Amino acid sequence: YLNYRVPRTRRDIFQTLIKGLQRLEYRGYDSAGVAVDGSGKDHAASISLYKKTGKVKALDEEIYSMLSRAELDTHFGIAHTRWATHGEPSPVNSHPHRSDKNNEFVVIHNGIITNYKELRKYLVSKGYEFESETDTEVIPKLIKYLYDNRENEYVSFSTLVERVIKQLEGAFALVFKSIHFPGEAVATRSVRAMVSLKLTNEQEKNLLNRRGSTNALHSVHDRLAVEFYLASDASAIIEHTNKVIYLEDDDVAVVMEGKLYVHRIKRKAGEDPVRVIQTLQMELQQIMKGNFKAFMQKEIFEQPESVVNTMRGRICFDSNTVILGGLSDHLKEIKRCRRLILIGCGTSYHAGVATRQILEELTELPVMIELASDFLDRITPVFRDDVCFFISQSGETADTLMALRYCKQRGALTVGVTNTVGSSICRETDCGVHINAGPEVGVASTKAYTSQFVSLIMFALMLSEDRLSMQQRRLEIINGLKKLPELIKEVLALDDQIKSIADELHHQRSLLVMGRGYNYATCLEGALKIKEITYMHSEGIMAGELKHGPLALIDKHMPVIMIIMRDACYKKCHNALQQITARQGRPIILCCQDDPEISKMAYKTIELPQTVDCLQGILSVIPLQLISFHLAVLRGYDVDCPRNLAKSVTVE
Ligand code: F6R
Repeated sequence: YLNYRVPRTRRDIFQTLIKGLQRLEYRGYDSAGVAVDGSGKDHAASISLYKKTGKVKALDEEIYSMLSRAELDTHFGIAHTRWATHGEPSPVNSHPHRSDKNNEFVVIHNGIITNYKELRKYLVSKGYEFESETDTEVIPKLIKYLYDNRENEYVSFSTLVERVIKQLEGAFALVFKSIHFPGEAVATRSVRAMVSLKLTNEQEKNLLNRRGSTNALHSVHDRLAVEFYLASDASAIIEHTNKVIYLEDDDVAVVMEGKLYVHRIKRKAGEDPVRVIQTLQMELQQIMKGNFKAFMQKEIFEQPESVVNTMRGRICFDSNTVILGGLSDHLKEIKRCRRLILIGCGTSYHAGVATRQILEELTELPVMIELASDFLDRITPVFRDDVCFFISQSGETADTLMALRYCKQRGALTVGVTNTVGSSICRETDCGVHINAGPEVGVASTKAYTSQFVSLIMFALMLSEDRLSMQQRRLEIINGLKKLPELIKEVLALDDQIKSIADELHHQRSLLVMGRGYNYATCLEGALKIKEITYMHSEGIMAGELKHGPLALIDKHMPVIMIIMRDACYKKCHNALQQITARQGRPIILCCQDDPEISKMAYKTIELPQTVDCLQGILSVIPLQLISFHLAVLRGYDVDCPRNLAKSVTVE
């Protein structure tokens, strides 16, 4: 937030930043921080940093009264709420990050820097000292390194930033502040970010009539704009203005002496140099959920990106290698183990069910999957040479945490698979994988499931890297993972068709979901989604068990969803289908595209793109996530807050 030539006190600036952070609370966060110009006569010659773990309110209460009421002409402050990806939630790990103890450069960052280890090593070798465990901290250190080594050359703030981002790999939206460039802001992005302006209608008209020069794609004169906001989410700024300029990849935005310049690092021939000012039409509430009705729906539609974030920096598609950095130090021990035990509750348990078969195939180890509560009830034997995985989105589930402590006491190696860095499971396990799905707000877990799924597949791939006999299979899976985001988009495009099926089903009392093999986990997970948010009775049925009981439920009135994909179980599923239709059942079938054999026996089909057998469950679960969402909306229930359930179950 940059305020220009409108006298404000440091308290006002701080309050504006805090309000913006509070508007971002819906996304989930574990710590927050701000950087504002220091106090004193030459206030911009120093930067004050304030950070706190937990609530934004706590930061507000602690800092507000400490700030002076003196009025300032120009002021630039930055603020950030963090959802930990590298390093637990703590003041030192939260943003803004700084270059050194004098806060010469400070940075806030949304996203992930995947080559931070190499950069950190290099900067440490040059004598730069790191204080946090985050990927972000390499950025302020790097800009200071470039500043310190500029020799006699004059280098502008934006040039320094450009030089920094040339070295970064990953995804980022960044805002920089520096005591060497007081009152100046530089922002850039490789992921969605925006700049917004507070303008009158007259000012906007003037601005839209301007064309930028070759190196300043868009400039706004100081008499026009008095306050600038840089944000990666409209909800942080919507109460101040609805006029925004969206930055595009490789744009660098500079606010200096009351003017905004946006220029592009790699400019393509023929590219329109002007960034248009857009008017946000939405209400705050809408922006937080985008165009979605509920967070669950938003999170379902985020899956093409969330699975990419899970894989980012871990799979090298050129060399077909997979490295899960959090497990590297324990790899030898894991390879020598007696068995793998996957432990979780609810959806997280289902991620274990979904990946068990491929883990068995690629690791050639016995794999047990366990519901944490039952595992403890049975006082299950656990040995020193077991490797126990604790799968948990929140990282706080009481049963899973107790199972972890139980296994630790018995000397097993413990591995966390969580979405929440710094959570109890993260802290107490020997090593782990962070699934990087981003905060999940909806109580019904969706994107965390597919990211847990992908993480466990990556683990199987990492463990089998040196097995010659597995190479063909590994290659097939790695190629499948590469194409996964596109295939997820294809499945999401079926939403209208899925909604029309929900229209037909929403008055029913019951819904059975059947399948086997790699898609059995989808049946369990689909049924769980349906029961938890629609309150319909729903059961996931192993198709191989039909004759042993569930077939008695089938008649022409019982709604049934069957999953029949082209894999090793195809024929057996076909047999199950015949048994259903012979009893007047009218199954809705999730099948592969172009399967006339199946289509002619189905009441309705939902045709999915085909992928490698062990990844198919990632695609087949999405129609069931969507169907449960639509059923819940049609039945008039609060999708994000189902009755009697909580997002994090911290009691037994
Ligand atoms: C269902 C759901 C729950 C959780 C379970 C475990 O949609 O979200 O079944 O999966 O409570 O929670 P975590 O993964 O946080 O350990």
